[in-house]
Amino acid sequence: MENRMKVLGIVGSPRRGGNTHLLVENILDGARDAGAETGILFLDGQEILECDGCHACWKGNPCSKDDDMNDLYGMIAENDVLVFGTPVYWYGPTALMKGFIDRFVYFNCPENRVLLADKSAILAVPFEEEDPATADLLVAFFEKSLAYLGIELVGKVLAPGVTKLGEIKYRQDVLDQGYELGRRAVNRSR
Ligand SMILES: Cc1cc2nc3c(=O)[nH]c(=O)nc-3n(C[C@H](O)[C@H](O)[C@H](O)COP(=O)(O)O)c2cc1C
Repeated sequence: MENRMKVLGIVGSPRRGGNTHLLVENILDGARDAGAETGILFLDGQEILECDGCHACWKGNPCSKDDDMNDLYGMIAENDVLVFGTPVYWYGPTALMKGFIDRFVYFNCPENRVLLADKSAILAVPFEEEDPATADLLVAFFEKSLAYLGIELVGKVLAPGVTKLGEIKYRQDVLDQGYELGRRAVNRSR
């Protein structure tokens, strides 16, 4: 049987049923309709301690933090596409998402680099202001960090002008963009 692609949605907002959650779900719907197996990870439900730069992981040792991230490394490695969803918080990602990405330093040594081989990513970003430039710093943070890690950013969906819990459900244009991005990310990798 053909191996199905695996797509993991990562929700960096603490709000369940919020705009990030719904947008990530739409991307996953598209990926599933294109034949992928999908899963969703709420960073809010995880114990992810801050990286303190001890560099144990760079010496091939396990991470010095005994927390959920040690299982999440395996989950990240077994997925083909990572969907990073975060609202804009003060022109950057949420602290949940930043703390998660900080721990990707684990992948930055030759032994662990291979775990990220051939992965691609999608970025999903809701925010309150109407000006798309509101997300510029956040987008640049992901573009540079993913390029550094060798993960290809295949697309992004920005959702300006949303702030109430779940109000993105009235923004069919943005949800359609997300769905299409999910479909395309799977189809391009066949
Ligand atoms: C701490 C905090 C900081 C925020 N900073 C910004 C900001 O700088 N610019 C902006 O447009 N929206 C900002 N917002 C609004 C959120 O981006 C917006 O409400 C978003 O839709 C929340 O997504 P969620 O429903 O997935 O949590 C901020 C919200 C919070 C709680």
